[in-house]
Amino acid sequence: MKTQVAIIGAGPAGLLLAQLLRQSAIDCVILEARSEEYVLSRIRAGVLEHPTVELLHSIGAGDRLAREGLPHEGVDIVFRGEKRRIDFPSLTDGKTVTVYGQQEVVKDLIALKKDFDGQILFEAENVQLHDIESDSPSVRFTRHGEDVVLTCDFIAGCDGFHGVSRQTIPQDRLKLFEKVYPFAWLGLLAEAAPAQDELIYSYHQNGFALFSMRSPEVTRLYLQCHPEENLDEWPDERVWSELHIRLESGDGFRLNEGKILRKDVTPMRSFVCETMRHGRLFLAGDSAHIVPPTGAKGLNLAAGDVKVLNDALVAFFKSGSTDLLDAYEATALKRVWAAERFSWFMTRLLHKFPDGEPFDEAIQIADLDYFTSSEAGRKTIAENYVGLPFG
Ligand code: APR
Ligand code: PHB
Repeated sequence: MKTQVAIIGAGPAGLLLAQLLRQSAIDCVILEARSEEYVLSRIRAGVLEHPTVELLHSIGAGDRLAREGLPHEGVDIVFRGEKRRIDFPSLTDGKTVTVYGQQEVVKDLIALKKDFDGQILFEAENVQLHDIESDSPSVRFTRHGEDVVLTCDFIAGCDGFHGVSRQTIPQDRLKLFEKVYPFAWLGLLAEAAPAQDELIYSYHQNGFALFSMRSPEVTRLYLQCHPEENLDEWPDERVWSELHIRLESGDGFRLNEGKILRKDVTPMRSFVCETMRHGRLFLAGDSAHIVPPTGAKGLNLAAGDVKVLNDALVAFFKSGSTDLLDAYEATALKRVWAAERFSWFMTRLLHKFPDGEPFDEAIQIADLDYFTSSEAGRKTIAENYVGLPFG
């Protein structure tokens, strides 16, 4: 098999890159380790930044998003029993975000890809990258018992944090940064109408909580918990009791309860691999960086990477110029670190640190007060939340 760009991974990064390349008639093949059903059922965050929504529209993946996505003009931040709203349009020249589940984005992108050429090879096992330092790299894999060699001009490593692409780069060439947080999120999907239209981020002595949604019938909720949390210790009654305590600030807001459809635990980690390029291998999305979920930047960051990578690949195939490819890492990293900073900031602002010193906690309250009351503070949150421009 032969293609121009071999894309490893059919998550948001790989699927978006494939559509962008198709618009410039650049040939690509996506190799995905898992089955289509598995990829479609993975539940992740659900907030799309303004630039991500524009990108999805520009590649023809915006129809259902426009119909079913929920535009949000602000979020509430709750602390010490007080609720303060950050209004996006008035603080960002009219920008908003859209709440739309990541798996819905993935579903729309897979449908679009199939409509055109169907080149997503699901269940590609034992994917191995070869000759990435040469001008003709290749990818070897096994599919349905058959060994396949795919030769290509470039490889896009869009295979997430645990993928094979980053691991193919020689250890001594990797420049890595990591921060692990001493807490996690217990995520809940509930068959209950969202009790208000906008998200609520809450800092509480019992720990952080987040009220979000997926549709007019489904509420998505999160509670700060231990990284090694045992789900058996969170029966439904305890879950609802904690959610009421942490999210209801005395302004009359009351959560709607409903059947809990799913419980999961999300670890919290910040991670950056600054080596986003090695030879003809380019990393994009979670394979190069992880953000803690506070602020929901993961998918949006992947979108920014692949937009920059696409522009560089298009320039190469049109004119032979490697200037943008050579600039890829530096261009992408600028936005990556901006989103890492914001996700770290929101995580630090809103969580209860298990061994927090009284001084640090008092500063945290002062920060919460400042960033939700001063116009400069609110603007900082709003500008980052709706999304900084792509590189
Ligand atoms: N070979 C082929 N495919 C692989 C391999 C492999 N060795 N390893 C992983 N994959 C696939 C995974 O099964 C997954 O479908 O790569 C895909 C990576 O997708 P994501 O993990 O979703 O990563 P990315 O596309 O960068 O998305 C970034 O989505 O996952 C969220 O939190 C993430 O919101 C962020 C955004
Ligand atoms: C979500 O709806 O899953 C969500 C929303 C906002 C976040 C994180 C996750 O900051």
